[in-house]
Amino acid sequence: MKHAEDLMARSMRVAPGGVHSNTRRITPQLMPKSGKGARVTTQDNKEYIDFHASFGPIILGHAYSKVTNFITEALQEQDLFGFGATEYEIRCCEKIVEHVPSAEKVLLTNSGTESTFHAIRVSRAITGRKKIIKFQGCYHGWHDYVARNMLSAKELIGKRDPGSAGMLDEAVDSTLVCRYNDLDDVEQTIKQNKDEVAAIIVEPIPHNIGCVLPQSGFLEGLRELTKQHGIVLIFDEVITGFRHGLGGYQQACGVTPDLTTLGKAIANGYPIAAVCGKAEIMDYFTTNPSGNALFAGTYNGHAVGTAAILATLDILETEPVYDHIYKLGATMRSGIQDIADRNGLPVTVKGFGSVFVPYFTRDTIENYEDLMKVDVESDLKFRRGMIEQGVLMIPLPMKRNHTMYALSQSDVDYTLEAAEKVMKAMGREA
Ligand SMILES: Cc1ncc(COP(=O)(O)O)c(C=O)c1O
Repeated sequence: MKHAEDLMARSMRVAPGGVHSNTRRITPQLMPKSGKGARVTTQDNKEYIDFHASFGPIILGHAYSKVTNFITEALQEQDLFGFGATEYEIRCCEKIVEHVPSAEKVLLTNSGTESTFHAIRVSRAITGRKKIIKFQGCYHGWHDYVARNMLSAKELIGKRDPGSAGMLDEAVDSTLVCRYNDLDDVEQTIKQNKDEVAAIIVEPIPHNIGCVLPQSGFLEGLRELTKQHGIVLIFDEVITGFRHGLGGYQQACGVTPDLTTLGKAIANGYPIAAVCGKAEIMDYFTTNPSGNALFAGTYNGHAVGTAAILATLDILETEPVYDHIYKLGATMRSGIQDIADRNGLPVTVKGFGSVFVPYFTRDTIENYEDLMKVDVESDLKFRRGMIEQGVLMIPLPMKRNHTMYALSQSDVDYTLEAAEKVMKAMGREA
């Protein structure tokens, strides 16, 4: 550990807190060195089976040869041009239009945060309205429009809870917060703010709080209400898009939003994202000569990202990736649930497809309030125990775990044996 501590001390001398995104400060503080397939190696030369997957982008595996080779080859002749559009950019957009039900037109960005920002601003431009609705517990990036009521403390649930100092009051107060899975709350909020709501933005599955599944009729109800009231419906599929299928979760649930934001698994970990949707809305962006919602970015459509999307999509289209990651996801969900039950631990494992989340409670989890019942201490103890066994489940409460294509059945078998050891010890202590 000394090496990791020294490195962190060195990093802290030149970077505030030593990390470059605030959720990377964890205990124990692991310092990554390399990653290959389903494994990451830290600076102490310890190897871990990786279920963190860098918060979800790694859907195939780390340093995945077919992706890295394609990018390396592309970079021999392409980087960044700053005029027109490359054939790679065009092909990426064609692919997204082909697969994602809501996508008639697409613009490429560098991050999910940029995509949600643009989706909201164009919604304001097209409706001439100021307010938006988001849901308690959902995360849509760090900009002022959406950075409120994310992981709120109990006493701030549904109340005014800006996520940062320095946010503009006008931005915070223009974002209304509703309860997920509560259509009455949404309807009432729309009525109380009649003709003022430009957009509703929602993670169709709120994965930033693990995995809270939409109740039957909830997403359909949002679609209905937004149509009735002339509101733009934005599905933030930065996590769900391409991780839950080529058409995103919207294809699985059969609800088509007006706009969709994509990122993370779209490019197996390379920095590129997208905003897409109905042509009549997308044409409002100033990339179109008659548009009036500013859209610009020096690095948009960089060859590293576009090559990564094309290589990743090619594998997702032609290999049994979803069969594999869904099967291992299901094995992890049932395996951990059985182990917890056998050891008398109050755990409910939730998830979807490749995602699994052990919540340390036996109560049902349907919205943010329900998370207050989770035993966070035990959750962290389990995750830290797994790290000691060589399995990386990020030691942050309720964060989701992911299976990836490079993960093998024997990795899963090993992980379940490790979980048995950790939970047995926890059961004995309880
Ligand atoms: C649902 C969702 N939307 C948007 C974002 C922001 O994406 P990025 O971190 O690429 O800016 C995230 C990041 O975790 C996310 O989970």
